[in-house]
Amino acid sequence: MKDASPQPIYLSDYTPPEYLVDQVELTFRLAPSATRVISKIRFRPNPEAVSKRFFLHGEGLATISSTIDGAPVTPREVEGGIEVDAPDAPFTWEAEVEIDPKANTALEGLYMSNGMYCTQCEAEGFRKITWYPDRPDVMAPFTVRIEGDEPVMLSNGNPTASGDGWREWTDPWPKPAYLFALVAGDLVAREDSFTTMSGKHVDLRLWVRPGDEGKTAFGMEALKKSMKWDEEVYGREYDLDIFQIVAVSDFNMGAMENKGLNIFNTSAVLCSPETSTDANFERIEAIIAHEYFHNWTGNRITCRDWFQLSLKEGLTVFRDQQFSADMRSPSVCRISDVLSLRGRQFREDNGPLAHQVQPDSFVEINNFYTATIYEKGAEVIRMLKTLVGDDGYRKALDLYFERHDGQACTIDDWLKVFEDATGRDLSQFRRWYKQAGTPRLKVTETWDDGTYQLTFTQTTPPTPGQAVKEPQVIPIAVGLLGPNGDEVRETQVLEMTEGTQTFTFEGLSARPVPSILRGFSAPVIVERETTPDERAFLLAHDTDEFNRWEAGRSLAKEVLTGMITGGDAPQAAYLDALATMLRDDSADPAFRALALQMPGEDDIAQTLFDAGMTPDPDAIHEACETLKQARAEYLQDLLPRLSADMTVSEPFEPNAEQAGKRALGLQLLKLATRLDGGKAAQAQYEAADNMTHSLGALACLLDAGKADAALAEFRERWKNDALVMDKWFMLQVSHAAPAEAAATVERLTKDPAFTMKNPNRFRSVFGAFAGNPAGFHQKDGSGYALLADWLIRLDPINPQITARMSGAFETWKRYDADRQDLIAGELDRILATPGLSRDTAEMVGRIRG
Ligand code: PHE
Ligand code: ZN
Repeated sequence: MKDASPQPIYLSDYTPPEYLVDQVELTFRLAPSATRVISKIRFRPNPEAVSKRFFLHGEGLATISSTIDGAPVTPREVEGGIEVDAPDAPFTWEAEVEIDPKANTALEGLYMSNGMYCTQCEAEGFRKITWYPDRPDVMAPFTVRIEGDEPVMLSNGNPTASGDGWREWTDPWPKPAYLFALVAGDLVAREDSFTTMSGKHVDLRLWVRPGDEGKTAFGMEALKKSMKWDEEVYGREYDLDIFQIVAVSDFNMGAMENKGLNIFNTSAVLCSPETSTDANFERIEAIIAHEYFHNWTGNRITCRDWFQLSLKEGLTVFRDQQFSADMRSPSVCRISDVLSLRGRQFREDNGPLAHQVQPDSFVEINNFYTATIYEKGAEVIRMLKTLVGDDGYRKALDLYFERHDGQACTIDDWLKVFEDATGRDLSQFRRWYKQAGTPRLKVTETWDDGTYQLTFTQTTPPTPGQAVKEPQVIPIAVGLLGPNGDEVRETQVLEMTEGTQTFTFEGLSARPVPSILRGFSAPVIVERETTPDERAFLLAHDTDEFNRWEAGRSLAKEVLTGMITGGDAPQAAYLDALATMLRDDSADPAFRALALQMPGEDDIAQTLFDAGMTPDPDAIHEACETLKQARAEYLQDLLPRLSADMTVSEPFEPNAEQAGKRALGLQLLKLATRLDGGKAAQAQYEAADNMTHSLGALACLLDAGKADAALAEFRERWKNDALVMDKWFMLQVSHAAPAEAAATVERLTKDPAFTMKNPNRFRSVFGAFAGNPAGFHQKDGSGYALLADWLIRLDPINPQITARMSGAFETWKRYDADRQDLIAGELDRILATPGLSRDTAEMVGRIRG
């Protein structure tokens, strides 16, 4: 039964576990609809406990037997689990339960995917496997015996014994239950090995379904690079004899860092030039690194409770961002990271779902795997590093690993390590974890006879449950440029701690042009009155690549908002600056591709809303179309030469250099398509020998309305490749004209290849729909009703994905009264659904407000 009015749990209610676990022994007797799980667990009273209650979590378990020290016991069923009378001394709990993996469509606990058994236990899935204190501060070594006739049967740790029809795995490192994993089925491995810095041999295995072997090479290389990088940059060595990755088709998230046995969504690990785009390769490299890095930041040092989630996620995202920057172009990586931060986290922070990096309460923890916990959490660590410097950061991290290895920690433990290692007081910095919302940084300036002053004022708008905000520490990286474009003051980090603060630069010979928030040194929104000429000047001259890009971006947004509101639209300045930037052959093609990318329609909507206007999705779409056409016409003379320069003659490699050329080539193809109606795109589609080219060309053909033949050909060619078919679904929805988007979604959901049981497939259609704002927000409300219908249908099958996708509605308060009424109606309809999951009820309830 689902809880009708789910109660929040509070950080302030934390109490230590009553019992600790010294050892876990599990036996699995696998059967698709009736798997038996036999547990033998050594408990001991926790001296730090405040009560003596012996409570075990459990959900949907059919108990066959349970004993304490061999004597049968009768547990009392209580909310969320059972209570048993237990000795105030060490004892052994044994239980046998039966579960039904085949019926598990929520993909949490033990479930079947594509005929194979697999598990997902973070955050609270282990309680669907057996009775256990399913909380991260209970850590124990596990031994797991798997019995069954599957050819491959895996669990965490090292393989320690095996026989006919059984395998045994032992994980010596104490871990919380959320890091438990089991996989069994018909799998094949790419095998490799790694020698650690102290000379230990580690076997590496990347397990896939037969047929997918050809998509494992890149993932394995990425793993080895990650292992090396973590040794070199953080001094972290791997700690088991074997490290395994398994690719699974049905998975709610990207991937999971289970100790020694990472489980990956196929989309986050499998790739080949024929089936994957450059963006796929880049994402896969980052996710493999991310999960591997969790071995130290997450597993060896874990979280005390789920309010500390960002302790592992913010830090691990920051580490994977550092890794990607080292593997590829740092400024290009930074720009991409900020694009996604703004698109997802700022959006969240400015709506009804805004929450702290360390929340005070939650109803369903699955709803808190958010851009705020992950990406803002990483930004906070980046600022910390800027403030204490590289050496201070390294010292603090060394102390963190030394002091807390083997522990379940809090964000306060983390900050204390920085205070102790660097002597810096971080009490004000802590507000970054405790205040939700994106600070606005208003900038004014004065110039007087050689003295230049910058005055900053910070304000953070109220967020749900947090009306008043205190000033935060903001590291503002600033450089100054002279009138001829030379840098007259190198980057300097201004530390702002007050609500309003002035910084003075003396001895300048002419009024400078400031380059503010270089490298995006803090996750804030800068508000500064400036001129199109100044932006064009920065786009041409700034030595900070991020701010060069930012200048072009702001200019584009100014043009668009001007076109929409009937204000000034500095189109000529923008087009001219764009042409100058494109002609600059010394600039990295990847950078130029990013600078040529249009601002997203959702970004424009938020910008208009911030400026006190009501965004009209159709008008935004129209303005973007008009500007795209104007750009194509203005830049047409440049296209042939530049496109030719972007030709890659070497065989396909998914490296940054080639990817940059292809990215710029595709931006140019989009422009060309507006002029030639799709001729060049058709030619590229036909000639393509890699997915980046075919998909890019197909997108252009869709925009030109000439894609019918190519879509049919593509479908036929790739009908047996689920990951490529996801792209086929996604592209049609994201490139549908506004008035046709809902109909496209309806048509695609009737395609025999559509299924709502596979999260990737559902997302490829409905995620793309939410990402097509003009289509989703059609005035008649058809988009809202369509999404709501499908969310209601999906909820009993997969609550996590339903809750996540309901985020499509999170921006609803931006829009006009009619649209708001329509959305409110759909949100209420979802909320009124009998038996609605706790996940969806919480999310939709918070969005509705
Ligand atoms: N902990 C995983 C990661 O960040 C994400 C995840 C969360 C996966 C919950 C599954 C379930 O890498
Ligand atoms: Zn993570």
